[in-house]
Amino acid sequence: MLATIKSAALQGIHAVSVLVEVNAGESGDPRLIMVGLPDAAVKESDDRVFSALANSGFRKPQTRTTINLAPGDLRKEGPMYDLPIALGILESTGQMTPHDRFDRYVIAGELSLSGATRPVRGGLAFALDAKARGLKGAILPIKSAQEAALVSGIEIYGVKSLDEAKRFLEGDFDLEPMKGYHAKEANSYTYGLDFEDVKGQAQFRRAIEVAVAGGHNLLAIGPPGSGKSMIAKRIPSIMTTPTLEEYLEILQVQSAAGLSHQWDSLDRRRPFRSPHHTISDVGLLGGGTIPGPGEISLAHNGVLFMDELPEFKRSALEVMRQPMEDGCVTISRSAGKVTLPCNFMLVAAMNPCPCGYLGSKQGDCACSPTQIQRYRSRVSGPLLDRIDIHIEAPALSIEELRTAKKGESSQTIRKRIHEARDIQKVRYAKDAFSANANLTESAIERNCSITSEMGALLQNAMESLRLSARAYNRILKVARTIADLEPSSDIKMHHLTEAIQYRSLDRKTRM
Ligand SMILES: Nc1ncnc2c1ncn2[C@@H]1O[C@H](COP(=O)(O)OP(=O)(O)O)[C@@H](O)[C@H]1O
Ligand SMILES: [Mg+2]
Ligand SMILES: [Zn+2]
Repeated sequence: MLATIKSAALQGIHAVSVLVEVNAGESGDPRLIMVGLPDAAVKESDDRVFSALANSGFRKPQTRTTINLAPGDLRKEGPMYDLPIALGILESTGQMTPHDRFDRYVIAGELSLSGATRPVRGGLAFALDAKARGLKGAILPIKSAQEAALVSGIEIYGVKSLDEAKRFLEGDFDLEPMKGYHAKEANSYTYGLDFEDVKGQAQFRRAIEVAVAGGHNLLAIGPPGSGKSMIAKRIPSIMTTPTLEEYLEILQVQSAAGLSHQWDSLDRRRPFRSPHHTISDVGLLGGGTIPGPGEISLAHNGVLFMDELPEFKRSALEVMRQPMEDGCVTISRSAGKVTLPCNFMLVAAMNPCPCGYLGSKQGDCACSPTQIQRYRSRVSGPLLDRIDIHIEAPALSIEELRTAKKGESSQTIRKRIHEARDIQKVRYAKDAFSANANLTESAIERNCSITSEMGALLQNAMESLRLSARAYNRILKVARTIADLEPSSDIKMHHLTEAIQYRSLDRKTRM
């Protein structure tokens, strides 16, 4: 007898339909045959499934049984087919009489040997797929169901075990659909890390605030211990709270990478990713035999922190350029082409020199000018091109750390950033972009006008600081953000002079 169950496969961060067909009662040796491009984890499914069946009080098939995962040309990955396979076996061996509700849900889940369900990657994507296919909903392990329930307009059921799924599908007992977790609105959540822990560093904090307010990428240069990592980690706490739509995008990526179902809560946070500089191109961009998200996508709608920027392979920095331009990355592999989102704020950090102590009170620099030059030139070029704000930060002395006052809280800073962002949203309501960092050249002309006096000052600064031509537009965009933070509808002289200070690294002599 043939049983068919609707399931799905992950392709990047999206789900595509998979049909699980189980045919028991075939003539021939009693064995299980699995077809339809299963990977190793899927093939091992029969061991888990047989044990789960036995431990839930069911029989395994006594006849030759074929399991087909259709379509046959799509690679199937991971243990998520355990639950649909087990249910298919129950039906095709006559151990279960499904209610007509069977057909209307996407079903996925890993099974433990005891028959309990385990969460799977892509719960959220499966829910979105079920909705797109016009199905009633999805049946998933509890943890996967919690995130799936964020999708409105469909029913999501979380099941604890194979037996529970079976009884529900037989119409034996009713489960309550999972409640959408729409609570925890703006400002009611705590991020955990707060800017009030950061003492002193007024200029550094200010540069961060400007960067976040306009969506500008930032590079921090400072000796070890100057708080670069500490501050970078706190940036998501001052970014605007993600809208539900933005949060679903974040979650969809995290879910496809198998991260979200390990979280304790689904608070609307933005991600902070901090890949090590030895990371491979695939780790950074995404990919693999079944293309999955890399660090730039895991940072989507949040922060990508590249600590020790000059240590990253040059190729890694170069391959990031196009995705940063586009806000998405396309990966082609034999298993297919997928596009993943990667709209992030880049925060990079570096020491001022190879030893780290150039210009520092904490230690003496032992580097030669050539070494310093070589070190800094590693970050010139493609990536530096995308960074609007440079900030040089000293390390605080122990005395300063002891006596400096607590800093402003993240909530206070976030409020100002919200206001500056709202101004930009209104101003760019008809444009394709919504933040100053993304202004096109013509948009800069329209929105960043300066007086002739200011123009002369800028020209002067360009020459005396030997700034590159590229720096010109960056200064105007950053000045626009500084004006929005005030708020001021016009860019004024003091906005411009502050913006000029944030170009310390692209003086031609130094890079
Ligand atoms: N401005 C600061 N306020 C409070 N603590 C600081 C500050 N700067 C540094 N620290 C302390 O020094 C530690 C090391 O800072 P870290 O962020 O790792 O520096 P970096 O990344 O620049 O090397 C921090 O974890 C923190 O305890
Ligand atoms: Mg650090
Ligand atoms: Zn040095």
